[in-house]
Amino acid sequence: MSRNIERISTGIPGLDELIEGGFVKDNAILVTGSAGTGKTIFSSQFIWEGLRNGENCMFITFEERPEKIKQEAMDFGWDLGKYEEKGQLILRQKDPFDTAEGDELFWFRSELEKHDVDRLVMDSTSILSLYYDDQYKVRENLFKIVKTIEEADVTAVLTTESPQGEELTRFGVEEYLVDGVIQLGILSLGESARSLAVRKMRRTNHGTKSHEMSITENGIVIE
Ligand SMILES: Nc1ncnc2c1ncn2[C@@H]1O[C@H](COP(=O)(O)OP(=O)(O)OP(=O)(O)O)[C@@H](O)[C@H]1O
Ligand SMILES: [Mg+2]
Repeated sequence: MSRNIERISTGIPGLDELIEGGFVKDNAILVTGSAGTGKTIFSSQFIWEGLRNGENCMFITFEERPEKIKQEAMDFGWDLGKYEEKGQLILRQKDPFDTAEGDELFWFRSELEKHDVDRLVMDSTSILSLYYDDQYKVRENLFKIVKTIEEADVTAVLTTESPQGEELTRFGVEEYLVDGVIQLGILSLGESARSLAVRKMRRTNHGTKSHEMSITENGIVIE
């Protein structure tokens, strides 16, 4: 069997080894987890890796202000602002209530093309449920986002909040639309142990067990 699959480094020490060397280039990966599990840090670390490798990157933040994203990244030594000034990073906050319905996807598609983006983050897609009052609309728009990512030749990390409990994602559809799902967790209350599990990764031979994860002064590390 000959498999010549181009992969890109995630930037998370210990993760590439679990997924045959990194994310398959141009795939869309969902990072899911409850509050405080490290989704935004994962996103910034993934972007930082791209910037260091000379890739064009785009970080769309739906919740936190860009200034906060930059400050938090800087805590780990990732100077996103430097690359934003150079034009290698586009960091935009999207207020879902700001524009007319449908408009936001057009904006995102044209920006990807204009800046020839290699690596994209959308943090967090859960906010779509506030934007659209019906579940069908949420699914339809997630589908459009994933389709746009596929067409744009961009490797993407989308984050989503997972409810406490068994379900991976809030709507129960996101995990089917994307190429990969990484689940972040906190192993048990009272202990500080964090976990990361690769739940799905198309074209990749991977295990599904939970790995211990820590957030160090250099960011996320998988033990
Ligand atoms: N410098 C640091 N060193 C160690 N741990 C940190 C540091 N900064 C943040 N953390 C941990 O990371 C958590 C925040 O991570 P992050 O913002 O990525 O979570 P999130 O999953 O995006 O949360 P939310 O759902 O609220 O957006 C904090 O609650 C804290 O436990
Ligand atoms: Mg977050």
